[in-house]
Amino acid sequence: MSPTAAEFAARAEIPLPEVRTDKGRAARPSIVGPDSPEGPFPVVLVGPVQKGFGRGGKDLGCPTANLPDDSITPLSSVAKTGVYYGFAQVVPPHEDKGFRAEDLTVLPMVMSLGWNPFYKNKSLTAEIHILHEFQTDFYGREMRAVVLGYIRPELDYISREALIEDIETDKKVALNCLQRPGYQKYANEAVFQQPGSEVQASM
Ligand SMILES: Cc1cc2nc3c(=O)[nH]c(=O)nc-3n(C[C@H](O)[C@H](O)[C@H](O)COP(=O)(O)O)c2cc1C
Repeated sequence: MSPTAAEFAARAEIPLPEVRTDKGRAARPSIVGPDSPEGPFPVVLVGPVQKGFGRGGKDLGCPTANLPDDSITPLSSVAKTGVYYGFAQVVPPHEDKGFRAEDLTVLPMVMSLGWNPFYKNKSLTAEIHILHEFQTDFYGREMRAVVLGYIRPELDYISREALIEDIETDKKVALNCLQRPGYQKYANEAVFQQPGSEVQASM
């Protein structure tokens, strides 16, 4: 297997990305991976949402929630860099205003783990985009996620539009992948807070 993201980071190396061509984007499959998660998945991530560079919302029309370094270790230590799919939930405290009940359910997500080669980041990050229209941001709130499968490698692009196009395809692929019964059941993972239950302490 190619080195994990954490192995690259430990060597202070950044994986050399391929550049996605128009031909590569046109040939993308609409569903990937096996009928149910296979090792190392499921991988559970929990942590407070941090501010990234803010480019996801501004540049890409795809707001992302960044997790702190220690929260991404369960994934980066077993997986290579790339784009992944799974489920996520935002867990605010009880008194929190601005969230509707539907914002706090378990929702499909896509995530990117790596150095964002298009933006030439200097450090390893993980950004989760939840497939849902939130009316408020959730910086500082706890995010819980179950990563269930790999979609593709992180790539470099000749234009921002090309990256946006691939992210839009990632969202469709993630939804198709998660609709399979072998994945649906992970929306009920113990890490998620079920409606009506008490807010659990951070793990
Ligand atoms: C589904 C998805 C796929 C992504 N794929 C790539 C990619 O192939 N190459 C890349 O450089 N960045 C990729 N990104 C990362 C975005 O560049 C990054 O999330 C964005 O710059 C926001 O980061 P920021 O919040 O730190 O500003 C992807 C992000 C998402 C959510």
